[in-house]
Amino acid sequence: MRLEKYLRSGAARLVDSDTAHLDMRLFAKAALGLSDAELILAGERSLSAAEMARLEGMVRRRLRGESAAHIVGEKEFYGLSFKLASGILSPRPDTELLVEAARRRFDAAAGLRVLDLGVGSGAVLCALLNVFPQATGVGVDMRFGAAALARENARRLGLRSRASFFCGDFAEAAAGRFDLIVSNPPYIPLRDLAGLAPEVRLFEDELALAGGVDGLDAYRRILPAAARLIAPGGLIALEFGHGQEADLARLAAKFFRAETLTIEKDLAGRPRALVIDG
Ligand SMILES: C[S@@+](CC[C@H](N)C(=O)[O-])C[C@H]1O[C@@H](n2cnc3c(N)ncnc32)[C@H](O)[C@@H]1O
Repeated sequence: MRLEKYLRSGAARLVDSDTAHLDMRLFAKAALGLSDAELILAGERSLSAAEMARLEGMVRRRLRGESAAHIVGEKEFYGLSFKLASGILSPRPDTELLVEAARRRFDAAAGLRVLDLGVGSGAVLCALLNVFPQATGVGVDMRFGAAALARENARRLGLRSRASFFCGDFAEAAAGRFDLIVSNPPYIPLRDLAGLAPEVRLFEDELALAGGVDGLDAYRRILPAAARLIAPGGLIALEFGHGQEADLARLAAKFFRAETLTIEKDLAGRPRALVIDG
């Protein structure tokens, strides 16, 4: 079968995916080893039996609800490509807001010391080290596999010499003072976990999602730790979930002056990050 025809028929089968055509293009690039430009020119190419089998395997996993990013094992974040691993949260576009907040606040040449609490794949920390070439960073995650994956992503991106990664609890693992503290912690309230989309509920790690009864458990531990670890004049940027801004701001006001707190909106205009300007 010709590639173009296969991609169209595959997309038609992915009825539950909002990104079916994009998913199929990602599968084709991964299964056939093509770049974006090569894929555009490859529409008339015939697929071998082995190529069809590889592509069909990916489509079947997608039909079972796994995300396209996890199937191809790679995801783009802030213009960089990150390797993924099963059980480690794939980075989301909304989280780029944390990088944007830091870019607005600091000069590109600043020699920042950066701390990422709950580093996951390393996406946020690596993006920050990429846009601040003089910065150094520390990434902490409770999951050994996440700390190892983040370290591997930093190595692949040529950032390893400026980054250290530790497995540990975000409230206890770090010592010293940091100019920039970022975190996208688990923040889904208990009652919302069962209603998450299958590709999140069934395939992402609960430790990366579950934020306790009201979704704010992680912040109760991160905020006092951040108050202790932030350097004078530093910035803290924390992602949060839908409708959590008022409760989170009240919680943050126990550790920081109210006038240092700002709520930032995401690409869809929804409140998404708490920025604390020290
Ligand atoms: C929502 S994910 C964010 C991952 C990554 N920073 C990103 O934005 O894609 C939250 C991360 O926090 C980690 N985590 C959860 N509880 C933790 C804790 N108590 N200490 C350290 N890391 C924790 C999880 O393993 C997970 O990797």
